[in-house]
Amino acid sequence: MAPLACVRCDAPGAPGALGCACGGLLEVRPAAPALEGEALRALFAARRASRAPEDRSGVWRYRELVAPDLPVEAIVARGEGNTGLYPAPRLAAWVGLDRGALWLKHEGENPTGSFKDRGMCVGVSAALREGARVLACASTGNTSASLASYAALAGAPCVVFVPEGKVALGKLAQTVAYGARVLAVRGSFDTAMTLVDEAARAYGLGLLNSINPWRIEGQKAIALEVLDDLGWSPPDWVVLPSGNLGNISALGKGLREARQAGLIDRLPRIAGVQAAGAAPFARYMRDPRGDLVPEPRPETVATAIRIGAPRSWEKARREVQALDGGVLAVSDAELLAAKAEIDRAGVGCEPASAASVAGLKRLVAEGRVARDARVVAILTGHLLKDPETTVELHRERGQVVVDGTLEAIGAALAGLI
Ligand code: F0G
Repeated sequence: MAPLACVRCDAPGAPGALGCACGGLLEVRPAAPALEGEALRALFAARRASRAPEDRSGVWRYRELVAPDLPVEAIVARGEGNTGLYPAPRLAAWVGLDRGALWLKHEGENPTGSFKDRGMCVGVSAALREGARVLACASTGNTSASLASYAALAGAPCVVFVPEGKVALGKLAQTVAYGARVLAVRGSFDTAMTLVDEAARAYGLGLLNSINPWRIEGQKAIALEVLDDLGWSPPDWVVLPSGNLGNISALGKGLREARQAGLIDRLPRIAGVQAAGAAPFARYMRDPRGDLVPEPRPETVATAIRIGAPRSWEKARREVQALDGGVLAVSDAELLAAKAEIDRAGVGCEPASAASVAGLKRLVAEGRVARDARVVAILTGHLLKDPETTVELHRERGQVVVDGTLEAIGAALAGLI
């Protein structure tokens, strides 16, 4: 496997280590791939015609840039990636891109309904290869659903730490169904994250949060697939919701490595969007000196990103700076307004995902994204993840109860026909 090194002090990391002695996170430092440019693009394209699971997966298809040393028989895959990239002209107009273009990359179309599957298939494969027996994570719900699925596929036991009462229904249902042991921790995600980290060290659990460097390597495939979808013609911006900051770190690393491998000739800019009640990184990036100051009481309707002490802030800072990006916070009202538009466009997403479109609207209004820009907004989770918030949001469109007569139906069709 490729070597690990600390993002803070550059010291080498031992395989399977959770962090560096200095307190920094570890990252994978891959060797340059043997192929590059057109040869690599052609290899990726050829794999689309193959039936082999490792070629059909929208993560493992790009394995030269993901985890090239992992033998194919060690790969756990269930067709992750291959998510839709939807042109969204009405939403483009809504956010103010009147001369530009907007695509929605729907990562909710991954096997367990969120972008987490991209990193999880690689994280679980690598952890089991390195000898982990019991797998664990803290989660606001999507990571736990994803880990529970991949652990079950691989036949490994898993335990997940979730903030009690703060996990959306669909996510909890999945996690329980796939057979994880669910520990509902009294406290926030941040409490659960600290505890699982300690428990992993104390009890020898394989930790599958995005502080695990192999999670990031898999999540990089989001960048590769977006570029591939666009015929390797990079957009001007990629916008995404940000919580624990693993995904933005992976996106930036993936884009930079794609350029190094000659897959693209220029880098897009990236923007991370937080919920205003849980926006320590947006605050920090206004003047990024010293350490990030956590938000002690994170609060937002978007429970997926209800996070006050994001762990990957140093990696995320590096990527935002390297890609001339931005970070901002949007209110719950802005986020829900964007969700309503995404839902009515026929695409739909869970609340946190809508932060990308809400943030884009603000960036266009403030002139930070030009009105003729080509933009990809990443939708991180499926509409069905959080049915309760969605039914509440669209309450005025709720069902009409009717008598079983044609007259009653006719009355209920008023205004439609
Ligand atoms: N969107 C959704 C739907 C998420 O579930 C998450 C994170 C994010 C965005 C933010 O991504 O943390 O990489 O910055 N969910 C984690 C979880 C925390 O446990 O499922 P990030």
